[in-house]
Amino acid sequence: MRIQLNMNNLIDDIGVLTGTEGEGNEAMKVTATQNTGKARKLYIESYGCQMNFSDSEIVASILQKEGFDTTSEIEEADLVFLNTCSIREKAEQTVRNRLNHINGLKKKKPEMMVGVLGCMAERLKTKLLEEEKIVDLVAGPDAYRDLPQLILQVDEGDKAVNTFLSREETYADISPVRLNSNGITAFISIMRGCDNMCSFCVVPFTRGRERSRDPHSIVAEAKDLFEKGYREVTLLGQNVDSYKWSEVENNKARLEKNQISEVVNFAHLLEMVAQVHPDLRVRFSTSHPKDITDEVLHTMARYDNICKYIHLPVQSGNSRILELMNRGYSREWYLDRVAKIREILGTECGISSDMITGFCTETEEEHLDTLTLMNLVEYDYSYMFFYSERPGTLAAKKWADDIPLDVKKRRLDEIIKKQNELSLKRNRMDVGKVQQVLIEGTSKRSTEHLQGRNSANKVVIFPKENKMKGQYVHVLIESCTGGTLIGKIVNQ
Ligand code: SAH
Ligand code: SF4
Ligand code: F3S
Repeated sequence: MRIQLNMNNLIDDIGVLTGTEGEGNEAMKVTATQNTGKARKLYIESYGCQMNFSDSEIVASILQKEGFDTTSEIEEADLVFLNTCSIREKAEQTVRNRLNHINGLKKKKPEMMVGVLGCMAERLKTKLLEEEKIVDLVAGPDAYRDLPQLILQVDEGDKAVNTFLSREETYADISPVRLNSNGITAFISIMRGCDNMCSFCVVPFTRGRERSRDPHSIVAEAKDLFEKGYREVTLLGQNVDSYKWSEVENNKARLEKNQISEVVNFAHLLEMVAQVHPDLRVRFSTSHPKDITDEVLHTMARYDNICKYIHLPVQSGNSRILELMNRGYSREWYLDRVAKIREILGTECGISSDMITGFCTETEEEHLDTLTLMNLVEYDYSYMFFYSERPGTLAAKKWADDIPLDVKKRRLDEIIKKQNELSLKRNRMDVGKVQQVLIEGTSKRSTEHLQGRNSANKVVIFPKENKMKGQYVHVLIESCTGGTLIGKIVNQ
């Protein structure tokens, strides 16, 4: 069974990531395990964030159990599923263009079933069937267990829709089929949904209420991955700092056996996963500036295998704009959190951000506040976007999208330029240092070189000698670009 997954890892053409080799939006092909040659074939393409990508692994698992084969060739597919993103208008436009292309394929193969999954499915619901005639099936992020049923419905000649949002679903018991796996690094979803209601953001509407997954199922998944040879897990959630699992509500028996404290917060969970094995690196994303605790920072400091890297999106450097964005913190609060990170984890800890330019009513001075904040924090890299109004959000209801596109774009260019300077500056600080690197594979640019990441999540390239992926090595950093560190293996 071969599965192709096209991943646009949080990057569409509006957003710009400066930084590392190895991130990107190219298609990824993966060899998986089963092709009976008899069953119908599924093809899945994923857009948007890493959580969507992880969900595609759940979908593949559910349908594999139902006996479907999978294919990397869209032309061969009997079912074509697009797992979609709504975060910016451009993300939705990309999917609509793709549906247009698939329309051409369907003309040649009318029995081909076309499904839209994920956030766009959830946002548009049955409207999607009216707007995109080619679509047969619409399934929101909490409806994937129902897919076999929905497929049956389409087989019987109907259109099928399930966009029910759950307060409980975490797919905790479903073991994901690892789709784009390098066999070394994997993502583990620890929670779903978001309760934050940032005024620009569509996610609370497309993903529903926040809920945390049973910590024991998370630890079991991490153990299983380690036994299979994986050496790094990334714990995923829209706001990992609000992870909360109450044993009282969920598993009285285990509590009575005294196997666990009453409430598991994110710091506890991080510790539980770090204890799986000292050779299993632990990362996490996304941290929220209003919720990240000193307890989390101290837990990071206590464990060598918890990577010293925090994705801490600021969105804007101006307190008035942050208030309009309903982010729950001010510029001062954010800078104080960064100071705490530096105090507890030192200057080497990587910090990255997301930023939006041209939010409603943003003045030139307020935009400059973002640039000065960037200077103060010295981000290692950032994902940068200009504001895209999303229907139904608080901002869309309350304020006009009043910053002209050319101004939004010019401001975006300015923060990108600033970030490029800072990335280079931060990378230069690593030159001359010896860093531990987990090897992820051969460098994309040269078969004679390997590539991996240091603790701070930066890509490091070095001559391969006799080393292999999955191994830890010490690398002396000799030079750098804005996106990559270059060095050689040294014995320690
Ligand atoms: N939960 C994460 C963000 C998830 S969405 C957090 O709170 O940080 C990823 C990023 O997309 C956001 O951080 C934001 O920078 C950007 N984004 C979200 N909505 C957007 C919009 N309407 N226009 C432009 N960028 C947006
Ligand atoms: Fe969106 Fe805010 Fe939730 Fe992040 S925290 S997903 S930006 S509402
Ligand atoms: Fe996009 Fe949904 Fe993720 S809107 S960014 S795929 S949560």
